Amino acid sequence: MLKSLQYKDITIGQGACSLLGMQIIIYLYVVDGLLIDCGAKKLKREGSRFFLEQQIEQVALSHLHEDHSGMAAWLQKEMGVPVYLHEMALPDAREKGKYPFYRHLMWGNRPRFAPEPIPDVIKTEKYSFDIIDSPGHTKYHKVLHEKNQGWLFSGDLFVTPKPLVALYEEDMQDTIASLQKLLQLDFDTVFCAHKGVVENGKDALQQKLDFLLNLQLKVEELRQQGLTDQDIDRKLYPEIPLITKVSKGQWSSYNIVSTI
Ligand SMILES: [Fe+2]
Repeated sequence: MLKSLQYKDITIGQGACSLLGMQIIIYLYVVDGLLIDCGAKKLKREGSRFFLEQQIEQVALSHLHEDHSGMAAWLQKEMGVPVYLHEMALPDAREKGKYPFYRHLMWGNRPRFAPEPIPDVIKTEKYSFDIIDSPGHTKYHKVLHEKNQGWLFSGDLFVTPKPLVALYEEDMQDTIASLQKLLQLDFDTVFCAHKGVVENGKDALQQKLDFLLNLQLKVEELRQQGLTDQDIDRKLYPEIPLITKVSKGQWSSYNIVSTI
């Protein structure tokens, strides 16, 4: 069952997917008729029940990863709502998701769907969301900022202040630039797709930025001493986590070191 929680005017759907003892929580947000990210196909039974109980008029996806877009096809077909996505990700969305087997096991198969380019501003009856480019976690990533409320729906840009692994397509320099840009905005609460509601969210984003800048200095210093990125990775992250083994390196600390 997808747990339904309430935070101010926002209904939150909380679900979990797991693989080999690794569990990842997914948070979906419904704000005044706008659904932000729609979860994995593996949550179809409980997700669809949750969606039918909500008043959903439009859907905005932060990015195309299958744990954020797996139910988009269902929402379009069964609820007839528009789904918005980064313009550059539209062609991939029109094909069924292609990703490694462990991700199919974890999240299910993402069916093809037909999103529309996400506009610069999404309005609901009560709120207005600025849609902001925020590459890093993936190249085509958007966050939603409601400046009057001080809300930032951050997709997968935050997740944790001190990342230990990154996905092969992540770029830590882009993440740093996106964090620096977002920290110029007015907000205090972050709504993260895997961490839930983060009050003092601006401090949390600042913490992540500080952590990455610090790491960048350390990596630079070691590079200047002649160490390769592989050497630096082994030195800074001696333990190899389960996710690195399961994903055959798709998720790894090396991806942090080599792109920072
Ligand atoms: Fe993601």
